[in-house]
Order: sequence, then C-alpha cells, then structure tokens
Amino acid sequence: MKSQTTKQKKITILGSTGSIGCNALDVVRSFPEQFKIIGLSAYSNIDLLKKQIKEFKPQFVSVADENSAYNLEKEFKNITIFTGKEGLKQISIIKVDIVLCAVVGAVGLEPLLNAIENKNNIAIANKEPLVMAGRLITKKVKEHAVKLIPVDSEHSAIFQCLIGHDVNTVEKIYLTASGGPFYNKSIKDLEKVTPAEAIKHPRWSMGKKISIDSATLMNKGLEIIEAMWLFGLQESKIDVVIHPQSIVHGLVEFFDGNMLAHLGPTDMKLPILFSFTYPERSLKSIKKINIKELSNLTFDYPDEKKFPCLKIARIVAQGGGLQPTVLNASNEVAVQSFCEGKIRFTDIYKVVEKVLEQNLYTNCNNYNLETVLNVDKEVRKKTHETIRQLTK
Ligand SMILES: NC(=O)c1ccc[n+]([C@@H]2O[C@H](COP(=O)([O-])OP(=O)(O)OC[C@H]3O[C@@H](n4cnc5c(N)ncnc54)[C@H](OP(=O)(O)O)[C@@H]3O)[C@@H](O)[C@H]2O)c1
Repeated sequence: MKSQTTKQKKITILGSTGSIGCNALDVVRSFPEQFKIIGLSAYSNIDLLKKQIKEFKPQFVSVADENSAYNLEKEFKNITIFTGKEGLKQISIIKVDIVLCAVVGAVGLEPLLNAIENKNNIAIANKEPLVMAGRLITKKVKEHAVKLIPVDSEHSAIFQCLIGHDVNTVEKIYLTASGGPFYNKSIKDLEKVTPAEAIKHPRWSMGKKISIDSATLMNKGLEIIEAMWLFGLQESKIDVVIHPQSIVHGLVEFFDGNMLAHLGPTDMKLPILFSFTYPERSLKSIKKINIKELSNLTFDYPDEKKFPCLKIARIVAQGGGLQPTVLNASNEVAVQSFCEGKIRFTDIYKVVEKVLEQNLYTNCNNYNLETVLNVDKEVRKKTHETIRQLTK
C-alpha cells in the first residue's frame, strides 16, 4: 500500500459548534495522526465550545462577546481568545494548512477573504459568501494562489469527477437534490408547514438555515451559483435533478457523451475528509455504501412551480451583477422571519421575489468588498420593510 505523508495538517474551523463544524471534529477525532486543530470559532454555544477546547486543545479560539471570552480565559490559561467580528478575522489569518469555513450566512464573507489574503487554503462549506461575492472570492483565490476546496457534498462530487479533466470538455453538470421534507406535499399543504417541520430533513442532519433552504429548494438555487464560481461554468451548464436516495451527489456529462457520477454515503464527513486530505485520499474510510443500496436509484426534474425558489435563483444566476447578493440577503432575512413565525413557509419566495423585482444593482459587475457589504446591508433593510408590508 502507498505510504502517505505523515505530517499532521494544521486546521482552523470557523463555526466549530455547528453541524459541519461538529462533523469536521469527528473527522479529526477519527484521524488524530493526520490532523491537528489550531483554531476554533463559535458564536453562542459556549458549553459545546468548552468541550471541544478540552478535547482538541486549540491554540486560538474566537467567540462572539467579551463576557464569554473572559470566562474562557479564566478556565483555559494557555489559549489566545479573540472576540467579535475582529476575532473571526484574527483567527482566520493565523497560518494553517486549511481553514474550514463553516459559519452560516453572509457573516462568513470577511473571514473567508481574510484567510485567503493570508495564503491559507480553504475548505468551503459556507456557501452564502460564494453566492454574494463569488467574483471577488475567486479573484482573490487566484491572486494569492490558494486552494478553494468544496465541502458541499454536490460540489465535492463534481470537483472529484473533474479531477484530470478540462472543464472546457464539460457539456453539463448535474447537482442532485433529495427534494427535502415536503417534496410530495401539495401547494396548499405547504402554506401550513411549521419551522419545526421544515428543519426535519429526511436524509441529512444539518443546521437550521440550510435545512429550511433545502425545504424551499433555495439551497439548490444557491448551489447553482456556488457551482458557477467554483467550476467557472455558465448557469446553462448546470442542472438540478431530484434524487431522493441522496447517494449520487453529482454527475458530469462531457461533450463526447461520457458521464461520470460520484456516489457516497449520506454523510458530510466524507466530503469534509476529502477536503482535508486533498490532493491525496485517505487510506481509511469513515463509512461505506453497501452495494445493495444502489439497486433503486431514481432521478427526476424538479417541480419549479411548487418550489419557485429554484427558478428565482436560476434567473438571478443568469442575470449576474449583484443580483445574487440581493438574493442571498433577502433569503437570509426571509428564512429568519419564517423561523420567528412572522411569515409562512410559502411567503419566503414571495418576499425574495418582491425584493428582487426592485431590480437593484443588476448591472454592477465590478464590485469590491465595500459595495457587497453595503448592498447586503441595504437589502436586509428593504427585506424587513417588504415583510412588514406583507404582514400588516
Ligand atoms: N450542515 C450541512 O450538512 C451542510 C452541508 C453543506 C453546506 N453547508 C453550509 O455550511 C455552512 C454551515 O452550515 P451548518 O449547517 O453547519 O450551520 P449551523 O449548524 O447553523 O452552524 C453554524 C455555525 O456558525 C456559527 N455562527 C452562527 N452565527 C454566527 C455569527 N453571526 N458569527 C460567527 N459565527 C456564527 C455557529 O455558532 P454557535 O453554534 O456557537 O452559535 C455555528 O458554529 C452553511 O453555509 C451551510 O449552507 C452545510
């Protein structure tokens, strides 16, 4: 058997207390000889963070507020503790082999850019920054010659299928979607679903926001834009297929008619492990597919009438400019409002659509970070206003 590099890879996890963060720490726990945790960041879950500090002994930690930092400093004497937005920046610029970006939402954009600027390779789970500022991120990745390795299972699948292939020979890529918990519900029934029902994904156990995005299929829309930036493909080359078994995560069709598919267990630890070992592969697995599970794999085109978010995201992807930034910010606010019981599940797409109808920032392709952050802030305000109008 081929021997592997013995040097431990140093890893920082932004968002270690979340679903991806915990899966990543499971990976590190399974391969302690290969990976060493250097930095961890959390936001509100300090109890879990404390357990993680005790087990993984990071040198650096970042938390949201001074009070939590003060308590952690008393308990853990040999750790440097950072706080707030500045803290996320400081932890992301510490030189490591890989920064895993696994916070949720737009808040991950600045630390991601900071990590790239400091020449850290990135394993990217946090898709929202790529949606809101894909051009900016991919430009920085090139400038600083770092790796941007996808963690999202579909993008990891496509990335793996493309190894050794020229992207210019690709006719189409297919991102698979389980369909979420409500795929077979009627439009009428969708109006009544609760946040608790929406976060119960049938196949994946994930954080709240991505679970709701999966239920509206906005997640697949965001993933189309994510794939455009990760692989340098036009929207017209990216298709979504409903595959309820969640075993095939992505397919690539080449011009010559050959098609490659990536299959794997429904477990985020696999793409996370691959992002950590790339360009090598681990010689040990975490989980494997039983070949009998492959006897009934089905694929179908999504119902965009019942799940308009997918269509909305596709139109946004075609339009370009800062429309994806608008899409992301309005969706984040709408999802949060649904979780707070302010709007119905079926209002999420209506809110996003109403904000997009204002045709803001359509032609702005030459944006910088300041522009993106201003647009994000402005759109959040407009979305709250739209929700107030809708619910009064
Ligand atoms: N979960 C999956 O299987 C999956 C799959 C593919 C892609 N992704 C993507 O990966 C990202 C993370 O998803 P997730 O499901 O792991 O989310 P999650 O479970 O909600 O975890 C989010 C993490 O971000 C931290 N966080 C939340 N708000 C923050 C803020 N304002 N500032 C700094 N940190 C903050 C949380 O800290 P506390 O918990 O301490 O509050 C937590 O560590 C998302 O962009 C998602 O789309 C997830």
